Amino acid sequence: MRVIDDVEQTRAYARSLRRPLGLVPTMGALHEGHLSLVRAARRDCASVAVSIFVNPTQFGPNEDFASYPRDLERDLALLRDEGVDLVFVPSVEQVYPPGFDTTVSLQRTAARLEGAHRPGHFAGVATVVAKLFIIIEPNRAYFGQKDGQQTIVVRRMTQDLNLPVEIVVLPTVREPDGLAMSSRNVYLTPEERRAAPALYRGLRRATELFEAGERDAETLRQAVRAVVAGEPLIALEYVSLAALDTLDELERVDRPAMLSLAARLGHARLIDNVLLPPPTDTRQGGR
Ligand code: PAJ
Repeated sequence: MRVIDDVEQTRAYARSLRRPLGLVPTMGALHEGHLSLVRAARRDCASVAVSIFVNPTQFGPNEDFASYPRDLERDLALLRDEGVDLVFVPSVEQVYPPGFDTTVSLQRTAARLEGAHRPGHFAGVATVVAKLFIIIEPNRAYFGQKDGQQTIVVRRMTQDLNLPVEIVVLPTVREPDGLAMSSRNVYLTPEERRAAPALYRGLRRATELFEAGERDAETLRQAVRAVVAGEPLIALEYVSLAALDTLDELERVDRPAMLSLAARLGHARLIDNVLLPPPTDTRQGGR
């Protein structure tokens, strides 16, 4: 496994790898969610590259860039065990050298939900993902349904810019009690950690109602709020039930949709989502 911080050396080594090449972009602090993407890439591709870069441009001024968990040695040991070929670990200066002045931004899909609560977030994500695609030139790139809006933004950006990369989306990996795995779960106190699974319980409750035939979007959003209201430690930021392609809020669930939420628990801000209807292909988190 080669670990490289330099952009040009990374490009040269990636070009020497057998094709197809799969890329898994990450911010490190790796957990089973990230590793599920690495394993899928390992299964599908002749070579696998992983990037580890805590991308400052996708964090707001009052967000957790400085405190975001970092443990490069542990991450590299995990990736070595998964048989990864290349790990790109650039510094902030390598990705954003002095004078850097270009942004990839999306108009509509990035303005909703997470974008409305985190101004500039998706411009940061789209810019760094575009750069990673251009530096590493993967044939496929792997993303988790956990960050549902991110998968929509990345697909849109890849299509709009004619980047020759196939986007693969895999299901959210959860703890046994349903909490979606996240590098940010380490911010939870023991009490908050005990309360947190109510988020997924709410999403599950709405899914059950949907499967029983309920199509009124507000009834389904309300079902999520009602379950989460049982945990006073959780402050919901939003519950959205939106069309999967445009992220327009729905009145009736008469097309593929994403039921998503964001919530604060103490210092942590957590997100989660489910697709409606739930995917039948268990390998694919998206469509
Ligand atoms: P990060 O939060 O490190 O996540 C890297 C990838 O792992 C993303 O595609 C994310 O959706 C996926 N992932 C995280 N938790 C998951 C879980 N529980 N189950 C399945 N997949 C999960 O997302 C980012 O980094 C950044 O925005 C990035 C795309 C790297 C751009 O900076």
